[in-house]
Amino acid sequence: MSSAHVVDHPLVQHKLTLMRDKRRSTKGFRQLLNEIGMLLCYEVTRDLPLEMVDVETPLETTKAPMIAGKKLVFAPILRAGVGFLDGMLELVPSARVAHIGLYRNPETLEAVEYYFKAPADVAERLVIVMDPMLATANSAIAAIDRLKGRGVRDIRFVCLLAAPEGVERLNKAHPDVGIWTASIDERLNDHGYIVPGLGDAGDRMFGTK
Ligand code: PRP
Ligand code: URA
Repeated sequence: MSSAHVVDHPLVQHKLTLMRDKRRSTKGFRQLLNEIGMLLCYEVTRDLPLEMVDVETPLETTKAPMIAGKKLVFAPILRAGVGFLDGMLELVPSARVAHIGLYRNPETLEAVEYYFKAPADVAERLVIVMDPMLATANSAIAAIDRLKGRGVRDIRFVCLLAAPEGVERLNKAHPDVGIWTASIDERLNDHGYIVPGLGDAGDRMFGTK
């Protein structure tokens, strides 16, 4: 069985259950996704390297830790990945942002790219790709293929829900990319939806259904 970091923090699990509820309003759904984004950001950045720097406190000069290296890049997969972005930027306000526009062809479930814009020096940075749903993994794989095509070597993937099939496929296509998720659900249905899941994340976030 393929691997992923499942974030089982009670706050994450509680908020995810609220989001699964089909009666949750668009506003509530968006707000919860933003809050969970912040909590998942905390987990996915847990092992970032630190360096000791000089700092002058009101009492004396000392050495203290700061995150080493270049600023992170957050890469939301449009549309629904945007729901994580504000929460993540609240924790890491200096991060750069790469937008990756993809939609699933409803018949073939293949990912179709319609937009890509990343910082010029993206290859030198850690990129955290974000999308609430990892279903077939076609979107995640296409996004990561695109980033690797730009020379990016250090990539992590964050989602809210994953299907076991999606975790397996992403691990196989990109074994170097760690996955963080709040849940690995039971399965995919015949239409490529995660079951029990929460439905269509983009539609629920933006009220388009
Ligand atoms: C949804 C979701 C993911 C993708 C996951 O996007 O936000 O991007 O499906 O499915 P996959 O793992 O099978 O590729 P959708 O294509 O519905 O676009 P949207 O975010 O614009 O609604
Ligand atoms: N995309 C979604 O928004 N939901 C799913 O369950 C699968 C793909």
